[in-house]
Amino acid sequence: MSDEKTQKCAIIDSVLDFDITSGRTSTTQADLIIDHVKTQNLQVEWLLETHIHADHLTASQYLKEKLGGKIAIGAKITEVIKFWTPIFNSKNDTDPTQFDKLFNDNEKFFIGSIEVKIIYTPGHTPACATYLIEDCAFVGDVIFTPQNGTGRTDFPGGSAKNSYDSIQKLLKLPDETRIFVGHDYPAEGQQPQYLCTILEQKKSNILINEKISEENYICERNQRDIGKKVPKLLLPALQFNMRAGRFGEPENNSTFYIKIPINKI
Ligand SMILES: [Fe+2]
Repeated sequence: MSDEKTQKCAIIDSVLDFDITSGRTSTTQADLIIDHVKTQNLQVEWLLETHIHADHLTASQYLKEKLGGKIAIGAKITEVIKFWTPIFNSKNDTDPTQFDKLFNDNEKFFIGSIEVKIIYTPGHTPACATYLIEDCAFVGDVIFTPQNGTGRTDFPGGSAKNSYDSIQKLLKLPDETRIFVGHDYPAEGQQPQYLCTILEQKKSNILINEKISEENYICERNQRDIGKKVPKLLLPALQFNMRAGRFGEPENNSTFYIKIPINKI
C-alpha cells in the first residue's frame, strides 16, 4: 500500500521462502517486493503483520534490513507469546519488544499522508488485527473470499465466537469496502483471488453472511475445525514470527536452529 503524495508505503504480511525439509530459506518472493519498491521509488515506512502466521515465515526483518521501515503488529501478540514460549522454552528471545510497534485496538497511524485504523479482529488467533486504509481492509485470515468462508479458529486462543464478533465489525463497514484476504484456495486451473467487497461477503460468504445466525456460524466453524491438520510450517513459523522475523540467537557454531517440541501440541 503506498501513498502517491509522499511515496511512503507499507508492506503487509510479507513472506520469506522456507523449505522445511532442507531447512533452507530464500528470498525469491521478498526480492520481488524489493524490486517493486525500488522501481516505484517508494520509501518503506511500515512492515505490518495482521497476525502471527502459522503457515509461512515473515520476511519483515529481511525487508527492514534492505529497505527500512518499522515492524508492527497488534498488541495482543503478548497473549500468543505467553502461550507458546513455555512450549518452546524460549523465554529469553521471544519478547514483544522485538517489534518496533504494537498497536492497540482502534489506534490510528499514517502511511505518508494516509490514515490507517487498526481494528482488532481476533478469532483465528487472539492477536489478529485488520488494517483499514481508506476503503481497503487488509483482514489477514479472519475472513476469506466468499467461496472460502472464514479462517480456522482452532489454534490456541482462537475462538469461533470471537471470529463471529470480529466479522460483524467488518460487515458494518460500507458495502463497497474492499477486502484484501490473506489466502485463497483456488480450484485447479483457476487464479487465486485476493479481493472482494463487504457487500459480496454479506450476500454470499458460504459460512457467514446476513442470513446466518451467530449460533449456526459458531457450530459450523467448530465442526469444520475438528480434526484439521496442523499447518506444515507451524513450528518454524511460530518461533520465527514471534521474534518478528528472526531465528533467535545462533548456537556456538553460528548456526540457527528451530525447535520441535515433542508431544506438546
Ligand atoms: Fe493465519
